[in-house]
Amino acid sequence: MSNTYATLLLFLFLFLFPLILFTAASFAADAEQGKELHETHCKACHVGMSGGGEGDLLYIRDDRRVSSLTKLENQVRRCETNLELKWFEEDIMDVVQFLNTHYYKFKPTP
Ligand code: HEC
Repeated sequence: MSNTYATLLLFLFLFLFPLILFTAASFAADAEQGKELHETHCKACHVGMSGGGEGDLLYIRDDRRVSSLTKLENQVRRCETNLELKWFEEDIMDVVQFLNTHYYKFKPTP
């Protein structure tokens, strides 16, 4: 094997593969990550509003306001903007994913 070829392989292995993996991972919304963000930034205020408990009463009460995945996304953005958290798009989608998986359970809109 020529030296150049070996260097090229090494380059692929060390640099390109992690990059591809990282890119693929960042496209999928991550509910675990969302759970942590929610715990840190969102939960306390909702706990106060819903009279104690886990703060999730807000999401499962009969007259909850959010009624579709799009509206859930909008509401997460609204609360996030109000708090001036300056989240990345990715963070927003992670929290939407977390809330939908655990509470709202909307089907993705096509
Ligand atoms: C400072 C207080 C506060 C914080 C912090 C907060 N929220 Fe809210 N949240 C509210 C209020 C007020 C409402 C509106 C409740 C209503 O209209 O009945 C609400 C409602 C919601 C709802 C809709 C619940 C429903 O009725 O279906 C979602 C979803 C939500 N918040 C997500 C978030 C997320 C995500 C965060 C963190 C980025 C967050 N909130 C942080 C105050 C807060």
